[in-house]
Amino acid sequence: MIDQLQALRDHALEELARIDDLADLEAWRIRYLGKRGELTLALRGLGSLDPSERPVVGRIANEVKELLESELTARRDRIAAMLRAQEIARQAVDVTLPGRSGPVGQRHLITQMLDEVTAAFQRLGFQIVEGPEVEWDRYNFEALNIPPDHPARDMWDTFYVEWSGRPGGMLLRTHTSPDQIRVMEKTRPPVRIIVPGKVYRYEAVDATHESMFHQVEGLAVDEQLTMADLKGTLVAFAHQIFGRERRARFRCDYFPFVEPGAEMAIDCHVCRGAGCRLCKGSGWIEILGAGMVHPRVLAGVGYDPNVYSGFAFGMGVERIAMLKYGIDDIRLFFGNDLRFLRQFR
Ligand code: PHE
Repeated sequence: MIDQLQALRDHALEELARIDDLADLEAWRIRYLGKRGELTLALRGLGSLDPSERPVVGRIANEVKELLESELTARRDRIAAMLRAQEIARQAVDVTLPGRSGPVGQRHLITQMLDEVTAAFQRLGFQIVEGPEVEWDRYNFEALNIPPDHPARDMWDTFYVEWSGRPGGMLLRTHTSPDQIRVMEKTRPPVRIIVPGKVYRYEAVDATHESMFHQVEGLAVDEQLTMADLKGTLVAFAHQIFGRERRARFRCDYFPFVEPGAEMAIDCHVCRGAGCRLCKGSGWIEILGAGMVHPRVLAGVGYDPNVYSGFAFGMGVERIAMLKYGIDDIRLFFGNDLRFLRQFR
C-alpha cells in the first residue's frame, strides 16, 4: 500500500510538471484529488487495512495528499504568472521600431509663387496689403478711371452681386487694382505696396484662361517718381524670379488708370531669345502690365498730381508660374491632381 501511494505520488508529480495550461491542470486535479480521484480512492481503501498498519499508511497518505495539493497550488500560480507574462509581451510596444509616417502636405504651387513674388518686392521696400474679393464697382472700375459704359469694361467682365437691391453695386473684383485706391484713400505718400490676391473674370475657360486666378499688384507713389523708377523696380523683380541675365522690353499698352501704360516682356529664359515654343518663336515673353498712375486717379484720391507721381503694375501669378516652370495649361493648377502638385515641393 505504501509503495502504491509512493508510485501514485511520483507519477502524479511527473505529470504535473508537464502541465502548462489551466484546463489540463483542472483535469489533473480531478484525476488525483477529485471525489473519485485516484488518491481519494486509495484513502478510502485504508478501512480494509490491518488496524496496526493504519496509522502509518494513513499518515503517509495524508502527506501525499497535502503534497499534491500544495504542488497543485504552486503549479497554478506558475501558470498564471506565465499567462500574465505572455499577455504583457503581446501588448508591448517596441519603441525602437521606426514610426509610421502620415501623409505630409505642402503649399500649393500658386501659394509658393505668391510668396516668391511678394518677397521679391518686399526686398525692394514694398509692404504687403490685402483687400476684399467682393468689391464695389467704384473701386474696381470708377475710381480707376473706368466710367460706366466705358468700352474698357469689356476687358474685365465679371460676376455681379446683388446688394441692397442695387444690381451692379458690388462684384467679384477683376483685378487687384482696386486696392491701389483703397490704400491711397487711407494714407499719404510715400506709398509702396504690393497686393497679392484672388481675382475673378467672366471667361470661357481654356488652357490660358480661368474664371478665378491670382494677381499681384504693385503701387509706388512719391514726389518725382518716373518711368525710370518703374523700369528699375520691375527689372530687379524679373531678375529675382527669372534669373540675373534676363533682359527686359517695355512697349506701349493701354490701361485706363495709367498714362503712359506699358507691357513688360523679358527675353525668353528657355531659348534666351532665339525663339522657341514657350515664346512662340518671338524670343520675348510678356509678363505684366504697368504704367505711370493716371493724374485723374491721383486727383480722385486727393493726391495733387502736380506734386506726386507714381507707377503701378499688375501681373497674373498663374502666368508667372506657367512661364517659370513651362506649364502649358492653367487648369492644372486647380484640378486637385496631386501628381501635378507634388512636382513643386
Ligand atoms: N489691372 C491690370 C489688369 O488686370 C494690370 C495693371 C495693373 C496694369 C496696374 C497697369 C497697372 O490687366
